[in-house]
Amino acid sequence: MGNLEEIKTTLVGLSTIDKLKFLAEQYAGRIIFSTSFGWEDQVITHLIFANNIPIKVFTLETGRLFPETYYVWNRTLEIYNKPIHAYYPQNELLQDMVNTKGPNSFYESVENRKECCYIRKIEPLKRALEGNEIWITGIRADQSANREDMHDLEWDEGNQLIKFHPIFDWTLDDVKTYIQENNIVYNTLHDKGFPSIGCAPCTRAVQPGEDFRAGRWWWEDQSKKECGLHAAS
Ligand code: ADX
Ligand code: SF4
Repeated sequence: MGNLEEIKTTLVGLSTIDKLKFLAEQYAGRIIFSTSFGWEDQVITHLIFANNIPIKVFTLETGRLFPETYYVWNRTLEIYNKPIHAYYPQNELLQDMVNTKGPNSFYESVENRKECCYIRKIEPLKRALEGNEIWITGIRADQSANREDMHDLEWDEGNQLIKFHPIFDWTLDDVKTYIQENNIVYNTLHDKGFPSIGCAPCTRAVQPGEDFRAGRWWWEDQSKKECGLHAAS
C-alpha cells in the first residue's frame, strides 16, 4: 500500500487545487484522471486544465455514449486546448461479442451486461492505468450509499494503485455552483433528469426523489448494479 497514511496527513487542510498540485508533483508522470464528462468530472478537468496541473486526462470511449457527451468532450478540447486521451475496446473482443450476441446483448442478462462492461470499459481501463500510481476520479460520497463508505484517498487492491477522489465531500449543489461560477461546459442531459450519465442504452432519466443512480442499468436488481469500474461502488 506504500505511504497512503503519509499522503493523507500531508493533504489535510490543503485546498482541492493544492492537493492535485501536490500529488502531481509527487507522482509526476504516474498520475492520471478518468473523465466520463459528467458534472463532477468537468469540475476536475477544469481544475487540472485551467491551472496547468500536469495530470494526464483520459476517457473510456465505449462507442455507446450519448451525442451530448461527445459534444461536451469536443467543447472541452476546444476550450482548454489540452489533450484528452481516448481508450477504445479491443477490436477483436468487441467484434466477437457483437457478432455472437448482437449489439444490445446487455439487456438479456446480468452476465451479458457485465461482459459488455468488461470489454468496453474494464479492459481498456486496465490499459489506461498501466504504469500509474494514482488514479483520480469524480466520485462523491453522496452519489450512493456504497460510496458514502469510501474515502477520498484509498488503496485500490484490484488495480494496485491509490485512488483519489478530489471532490469526494462536495454536495451536488457545490458542484452545480462551481460549474456556474466558473462557466464550465457541462452535459445538458443533467438538466433533463440525468444526474448520473453512462452509456446511452444503459442510462435513463430519473424521477424527482428517485435515487441518484436509479437511471443506470435501470432494468437490473439494485444489488447487481455495478459495472466493475469501481469495485466497491
Ligand atoms: S460507474 O462505475 O457507475 O460507471 P460513474 O459513472 O458513477 O461510474 O463515474 C464515477 C467516475 O468513474 C467518474 O467520475 C470517472 O472518473 C469514472 N468514469 C466513469 N465512466 C467513465 C468513462 N467512460 N471514462 C472514463 N472514466 C469514467
Ligand atoms: Fe455496455 Fe451498457 Fe456497460 Fe456501456 S454501460 S459498456 S453499453 S453494458
